[in-house]
Amino acid sequence: MKTVNVRLPGRGYPILIQAGSLDDAGRRVRRACAPDRLFIITDATVGSLYGDRLLDAFRRSGITASLHAVPAGENSKSWRILQDLYTRLIESGLTRDSCVAALGGGVVGDLAGFAAATYLRGIAWVQIPTTLLAQVDSSVGGKTGINHELGKNLIGSFHQPRLVLMDPSVLTTLEKREYWAGMSEVVKYGLIRSEPFFAWLESKWEGLGDPANAGLIEQMVTVCCRIKADVVRRDEKESGLRRILNFGHTLGHALESATEYGLFRHGEAVLHGMRFAAWLSMKREHLKPDAYQRIDDLLKRFPAPPVPNGLDGATLYEHMRTDKKRTGQGLRFILLKGIGKAFTEIPDHPARHLEEWLTNAR
Ligand code: NAD
Ligand code: GLY
Repeated sequence: MKTVNVRLPGRGYPILIQAGSLDDAGRRVRRACAPDRLFIITDATVGSLYGDRLLDAFRRSGITASLHAVPAGENSKSWRILQDLYTRLIESGLTRDSCVAALGGGVVGDLAGFAAATYLRGIAWVQIPTTLLAQVDSSVGGKTGINHELGKNLIGSFHQPRLVLMDPSVLTTLEKREYWAGMSEVVKYGLIRSEPFFAWLESKWEGLGDPANAGLIEQMVTVCCRIKADVVRRDEKESGLRRILNFGHTLGHALESATEYGLFRHGEAVLHGMRFAAWLSMKREHLKPDAYQRIDDLLKRFPAPPVPNGLDGATLYEHMRTDKKRTGQGLRFILLKGIGKAFTEIPDHPARHLEEWLTNAR
């Protein structure tokens, strides 16, 4: 069992990482928050794969547990689904001593976490993430929320879980495409924070493509959690450093919205965004050309749909400008001074650079 601690004053928690740990959830959750009852929120796909196993694990530890599955997919991060969840939490008699468990990917984690943050003004919750993206990113750091019809993740709050329990063996049932979408967030950590981790990813690349390589995957997930926990500890509410976790997301979000969330998985859009951010870093003479080449060589190995030929720089730039992360002064980018060295900049002429990148590098 690997443990990473998220150290936050009065609301720190452990991330426990081990293949097979799903079956130990009862004992672990009892130790983390000793709930009077527990309500599992999952989605239909994950619920049918792992729901009974988790319910059994809780029952064996004497925890009264029930489970509710929302439809799989981004559309479940909605007011309608959230309202229905509140009704179920009330009808199930959840008290301030109860606990919510999020069993699923980032959609379930964000939704269940926001339900827990707001029900009875906030009750305890635990994360049991089942996608690679959720294990390396969304389950750590306490961001919760739902979408609004005018934009993604616009309604939400910070509400740290009491425990994150990760069983990397559940990744073997994930669709390949989902797995690779998560891998781009993995590479992100090397790029923004750790050259040695990036070099490790380069050297183990073949093995890392197969989630059945339990030892390797456990190691990889652990390093990502360590990096994210450290960033969150230094800047929980994203007033500075935590922004580097959005590396590649400026263009990534624009690609997602310009294609109406129909073409790219989030991680695939971020992959293109990271390639552009690395290219922009080189063009602005922050990043040496050989470092840029090393980055682009690894990122080009990902299976992902290309940026469609019909999408021009002006259209993408408009989408970037309307993204919620814009500032009063201009578009903020996370750039690199080297592999593992991210910083924030508002570059001149981003639209021109984008057009050039689309012509030369895609
Ligand atoms: P997701 O939750 O939609 O899961 C992807 C698909 O995989 C779903 O169809 C799900 O049913 C299926 N699935 C999940 N686990 C499985 C398993 N083990 N085996 C088989 N199928 C499985 O998508 P995601 O990529 O995990 O999360 C995306 C969401 O995360 C977005 O809404 C994004 O905004 C959010 N997010 C949040 C944070 C944060 O810090 N809170 C960070 C990044 C992303
Ligand atoms: N995924 C970005 C963050 O957690 O801050």
